Amino acid sequence: MRILLIGRSGQLGSSLLSLETKHEWIAPTRCELDIEDSHSVLQTIEKYKPDVLINTAAFHNLPACEKTPENAFSVNCVSVKNVAHACKSLGVLFVTFSSDYVFDGKKSEPYTEHDKATPIQMYGISRLAGECAALSVAPENTLIIRTCGLYGKKGAASKGGNFVDNRVNDALEYKEFDMGNDQIVSPTSALDLARAVLSLIEHPKHGYGIYHLVNEGACTWYEFTCSIIDFLGLDTKVQPIDRGGLSGNMRRPSYSVLANTRARALGITLPHWQDALREYLADKYLADEHLLAKLPIRD
Ligand SMILES: NC(=O)c1ccc[n+]([C@@H]2O[C@H](COP(=O)([O-])OP(=O)(O)OC[C@H]3O[C@@H](n4cnc5c(N)ncnc54)[C@H](OP(=O)(O)O)[C@@H]3O)[C@@H](O)[C@H]2O)c1
Repeated sequence: MRILLIGRSGQLGSSLLSLETKHEWIAPTRCELDIEDSHSVLQTIEKYKPDVLINTAAFHNLPACEKTPENAFSVNCVSVKNVAHACKSLGVLFVTFSSDYVFDGKKSEPYTEHDKATPIQMYGISRLAGECAALSVAPENTLIIRTCGLYGKKGAASKGGNFVDNRVNDALEYKEFDMGNDQIVSPTSALDLARAVLSLIEHPKHGYGIYHLVNEGACTWYEFTCSIIDFLGLDTKVQPIDRGGLSGNMRRPSYSVLANTRARALGITLPHWQDALREYLADKYLADEHLLAKLPIRD
């Protein structure tokens, strides 16, 4: 397959490009192709004639979404709709991403693809709008993949890195720090997500519409942080705190675990989050003598 990828420098984009595949990848930089330039998107699709377009671009810095919702809607909704339309007109499979933040968190068991989405902040609202817009113009050639708490080697530049690296940095700086114990999530490795995305688009029966793809299991950010500290053997204490579902003055879903029901029915599952975290830490930290030497390891 020939795959046009938008977002090559991001966590998921770079993980997709790191996989060994037989596919032909066309991966322009953001300077070469800005998703907000619909004319340029159409021209690029016409030029390369891909079988699939994977869009990992997003405006997903939450405080920025609250401050400038017009920017969030431009990238997460209007641009997604325009790309969906261009893909439909040229017969290209469109794969794009969304978030667990389309849910309000009132459930206490994993959200399936069939649960009603009722977002509670501008970011989630812009993502749900993007899902609806893409599916309204191209219901039969769009795959929307919702994921959660993504961490990849590159780190999300627009969010100031990824959660795992930021907690390791906290451990370098502090003997003790606080972490929220009031949000239950499905942290997901960008590498596992990339593998699952390819399995899905290669599957002859993938169909269209919304899929959930996350690592198995669930935990709070506090529990996830304790595992980072334990797996690396760091000499740091973490204290659980309850922020009452508020962080940075924004409402966040207190429970946003996703169930991969549609992908599982096709035989596509991701590893448990603990295995994914071990793989990430082993690859990024334990295999790098220079990084390892800097860490405050327990005696
Ligand atoms: N990170 C999470 O915790 C999380 C959770 C749930 C869902 N998701 C979704 O999963 C997807 C992948 O996330 P990620 O963590 O890989 O994101 P990321 O690391 O922030 O990467 C985003 C990529 O998109 C590019 N981009 C941004 N705006 C663009 C534009 N206007 N035109 C072209 N390219 C643009 C960025 O380029 P530059 O680097 O040059 O800006 C970067 O390459 C996104 O849809 C995201 O919202 C992420």
